[in-house]
Amino acid sequence: MKTTTSYAAPSTIATECLAIVVLDHGDKDNPNPLVSPADAALQAAAANLIAAKEVTGKANETILLHAPAGVAAKRILFVGGGKAANFTGFELRRAAGSAARYLKSKGIRSFAFAAPLLDTGLDASFGDSAKSSVEGIYVADFDPNVYQTDRKDQSLEAVTILGPAGCEKAVERGVAEGVILGESQNFTRDLVNEPSNRMTPTILADRAQAMVAETPGLSIEVMGGDEIQAMKMGAFWSVAQGSAEPPRLIVIRYSPQGAAADVKLGLVGKAVTFDTGGISIKPADGMEKMKYDMAGGATMIGAMRAIALLQPAVNVMAVVCATENMPSGTAQKPGDVQIAMSGKSIEIINTDAEGRLVLADGLHYAKEQGCTHLVDAATLTGAVVVALGFVNAGLFSNNDALADSFLAATKRAGEKFWRMPIDEEYRESIKSSIADIVNSGGRWGGSVTAAMFLKEFVGDTPWAHLDIAGTAWMEETKPWIAAKSPTGLALRSLVELVRGMAK
Ligand code: BES
Ligand code: MN
Ligand code: ZN
Repeated sequence: MKTTTSYAAPSTIATECLAIVVLDHGDKDNPNPLVSPADAALQAAAANLIAAKEVTGKANETILLHAPAGVAAKRILFVGGGKAANFTGFELRRAAGSAARYLKSKGIRSFAFAAPLLDTGLDASFGDSAKSSVEGIYVADFDPNVYQTDRKDQSLEAVTILGPAGCEKAVERGVAEGVILGESQNFTRDLVNEPSNRMTPTILADRAQAMVAETPGLSIEVMGGDEIQAMKMGAFWSVAQGSAEPPRLIVIRYSPQGAAADVKLGLVGKAVTFDTGGISIKPADGMEKMKYDMAGGATMIGAMRAIALLQPAVNVMAVVCATENMPSGTAQKPGDVQIAMSGKSIEIINTDAEGRLVLADGLHYAKEQGCTHLVDAATLTGAVVVALGFVNAGLFSNNDALADSFLAATKRAGEKFWRMPIDEEYRESIKSSIADIVNSGGRWGGSVTAAMFLKEFVGDTPWAHLDIAGTAWMEETKPWIAAKSPTGLALRSLVELVRGMAK
């Protein structure tokens, strides 16, 4: 997608379509939809549609008008932004995305987009608005149907982001950053979208290697089963041992000049390229979705791309534990005891609780490599979906300062996380009678006891755990994102966290 900018008045822009946001400035009983930015020709074009209540400003509503009088664009798309008082970057991304997906569906592959200017919670310099607009449009551009032989390529060709004159510097910066984040998020989504026969641990490592080769500022190290065993990563290996596909430990480093020497962030990702459950096998119904069990790892790889391109002055290292979880003659069995890299012994109660096993060694390895802060991302538990549904992802942390920085980053990124508790009392659930801990705390509080398990391996290091099981995949159709597609969720928040740490 070619992304350009313009600072001319929206009504003077010659384009296939001018997409503008309509915000409701009224209250529940007296809706008052207004075109934003205010531009006399655009307001005149909208007047009849608003009077007829066809354009209401309702969030993500899309109404297309052809050949508007007094406007250079061939069409205007009025896209609803909801209540003006509640309009933030989060709503802006969705409005921009809804415009993009609507136009794609009509075969219109280039358009101009103007974010609202007036009395909203958006930034005055317009840089963040431009960035959010671009992010929303890139997310919307993704379609998952890559293996349909009659696939029509509907990708957007060109988008022009409109900004007010005088804000050129901030808008150019915002658009450039939005492109980096949008492209990186879609890179992650491409990885997650691949089925497991086309995204083995080996292929994931190859794709990471190819990304690093074309991204200045990154280095990569890929290790296989022999190294994993030699490093005594008994928890990681216990999952990998059942598969004919060899595992990969993917380590990507970003060490920029000017970074504080005493801070190094470790981004640890679960990349189970297919989770059958192992010997504790999952039911057949819906098992195909377990190709997205590598989303946490793919998110870390994509985040490293964005970080390297944005160049914040912070040392960051990604540790991605890639393996399949398969039942076989060499698979681990319930009751087995494994020794993790840290030396802790683990009684395997359920071979389907494999994500925490690979992360246990990934987290310990990152600490050994000198990481002073740890964040892991994983499609770890069905229980987090029971707790938070598909709206919020779970955040668990042993450190309030890190949790608060991360939550602040999620606001800048327009992603939703909800902090969950990890009180000591929950540790009861992971006690074992034969080993130090069990790998499954059972049904109740399942996302919390999974986090308690991970906590055993981070010690006092500030750590945040992101359980993205409910949010890494979008099953439903939404106006701003394709159905049955990976979301790339957490990537933008992670990148914003790193940028915040650089300040
Ligand atoms: N990969 C799954 C979690 C998951 C569930 C991801 C639904 C995405 C959607 C994980 O490995 C798993 O199987 N967890 C078990 C843990 C249990 C056996 C303690 C679960 O959540 O049921
Ligand atoms: Mn599992
Ligand atoms: Zn899993």
